Order: sequence, then C-alpha cells, then structure tokens
Amino acid sequence: MIIIQGLIISLQCFIFEYSKKKFLQSLLYLNNAIKLMKATEVALYYTGEFSSKSYNENVRPTLMPPISQPEMSGLNWRDHQFMVKNCMRSIGKLNFTSYPIIQKKYNIFIISLKKAYHAHKYVCGKFVGPASGSLRSNEYSAVQEIEKFKKLRLKILKG
Ligand code: HEM
Repeated sequence: MIIIQGLIISLQCFIFEYSKKKFLQSLLYLNNAIKLMKATEVALYYTGEFSSKSYNENVRPTLMPPISQPEMSGLNWRDHQFMVKNCMRSIGKLNFTSYPIIQKKYNIFIISLKKAYHAHKYVCGKFVGPASGSLRSNEYSAVQEIEKFKKLRLKILKG
C-alpha cells in the first residue's frame, strides 16, 4: 500500500513537471516511479516466500466472505484504483516522441511494470497454482486474470 502511495506521488509530480515543460525535474520523478515499481516487484517476490500452508489457512479465508465482501480483489483497493484512474490514464494521454530522453526512461518504466506483473503472477501461481480460479472469476485462472489486467494497463499506458 505504501509503495502504491509513493507511486501515485511520483507519477503525479512527473505529470505536473512535464506539463510545465520542466523536463529535467520530470525525469527525476519518473526515475522515482521506476525505483518504486522495482520495489513492487521485489515486495511481491518477498511475499511469495510466505508458506503456502499459512497462506491457505490464514490469509485466503480473510479474503472471502464472511470476513471480506464477495469477489474481494486488489481491484477494490482505493489507492490502486486512484493510481490507475488518475495517474495511468493521464500519462497514457501524453506523447513523448519529441523528447527521446523521456521516452527512453518511460520505456524503462514500462519494463519495470511488466516485471511487477510477472512477480504478481509468480506469487499467485505459487499459492493457488497456475490453473486455479480467481476469487472473482470462474472463466479464467487467477494467473490468467492477472495477465489480462497487465494487458489492459499496458494499453492505457501505450506500453
Ligand atoms: C502479495 C500480495 C498481493 C498484492 C499486494 C496484490 C495486489 C493486487 C492488485 C493491486 C491488483 C489489481 C491489479 C490491476 O489492476 O492491474 C490485483 C489483482 C489480482 N490479484 Fe493480486 N495481489 C497479491 C497477491 C495475489 C495472490 C497471491 C493472488 C493469487 C490468487 C492474486 C491474484 C490476483 C488476481 C486474480 C487479480 C486480478 C483481479 C481479480 O481477479 O481479483 N494476487 N492484486
């Protein structure tokens, strides 16, 4: 949650500085966002070290009724929703082709995002297996659901 809040601040500052044509400043914030996205990847791998037995016995039940609302998902997480709706959508509307240094950094940001999704799929596959359904959908496996969201987010970001 803290990492996502840091990403929101970095991405909003990036958008703000870029819109004021303060390109060097904007690069600093984009760099911060890359570091935080790398931290996301590492945090997810770290979570994967939790034992599957403990996850199934202690964590998963807390994500299902009666403790949580039905169809509990990271998608319901307000900070994450804010990041997608306010930051990613605004960035997706920007065009960096006239600013090659920013475009290059932006490509690195996209790579770090793809790696974070890879780690998310890893931790999910480890706990529920690659074929097990998500708590929200019977149609796709949980890992396939994450892949689906990766593609949606990359589409928004034109990555
Ligand atoms: C390590 C802790 C975890 C965090 C912080 C986390 C966070 C999130 C977030 C923020 C999303 C929204 C992604 C997006 O909009 O692009 C999401 C979606 C999702 N996550 Fe996780 N997640 C974690 C662990 C897991 C695990 C272990 C599974 C395995 C079942 C999993 C399965 C999913 C699925 C299937 C989705 C897609 C939406 C849905 O069907 O609910 N996640 N997660």
